[in-house]
Amino acid sequence: MTPSAEQNAPWYDADIERVILSSDQIAEKTAELAKQIDADYAGTDGLLLVGLFKGAVMFMADLARALTLPLEMEFMDLSSYGSKATSSGVVRVLKDLDTDIKDRHVLVVEDIVDSGLTLSWLLKYLPSRHPASVEVVSMVRKPKALESNVPVKYVGFDVPDEFVVGYGMDFAERYRELPFVGVLKPRVYENA
Ligand code: PRP
Repeated sequence: MTPSAEQNAPWYDADIERVILSSDQIAEKTAELAKQIDADYAGTDGLLLVGLFKGAVMFMADLARALTLPLEMEFMDLSSYGSKATSSGVVRVLKDLDTDIKDRHVLVVEDIVDSGLTLSWLLKYLPSRHPASVEVVSMVRKPKALESNVPVKYVGFDVPDEFVVGYGMDFAERYRELPFVGVLKPRVYENA
């Protein structure tokens, strides 16, 4: 299916239809985003990255190491009620922030924005904590998110509306560790 690092996990060939973002493309894009973010926040006292469990862990780790600004890292764990397809946008906080974000420049780090529900909720919640600013960076964005107009300032890639996994993104908790983003073969989720 794939070149370089992807060859380390050949058993995924059975489940992955095709790779849409290689690990090299992801690394290049991360460097590009970091450069832009470094420039945008130059002159500030640094950034508070807020990553969302579990999907954002890979991107958070790579982005944090690509940025040159002073950083702190926080994680939140949010869960939508019910299925995404029927969700009313109600979000449950499984893990809240551990720190006071008052007067901090907050950058929310996401692996993927799909329906935009999670982020829409978070972008209403965070301002109640009086940060200096809140912006969002996401490695991947789906078409529905674009339609929903949820504000994502920094976007790595717009991807088609297919079942993507890897680089933090899962199906039934699997495939998060893949270094690339691939489309899952329908038979994997249809038979689940
Ligand atoms: C995923 C992803 C985003 C959210 C995006 O998290 O990491 O946080 O879904 O979807 P939305 O735009 O439709 O709200 P998920 O709740 O699947 O948890 P995970 O990160 O632990 O996989």
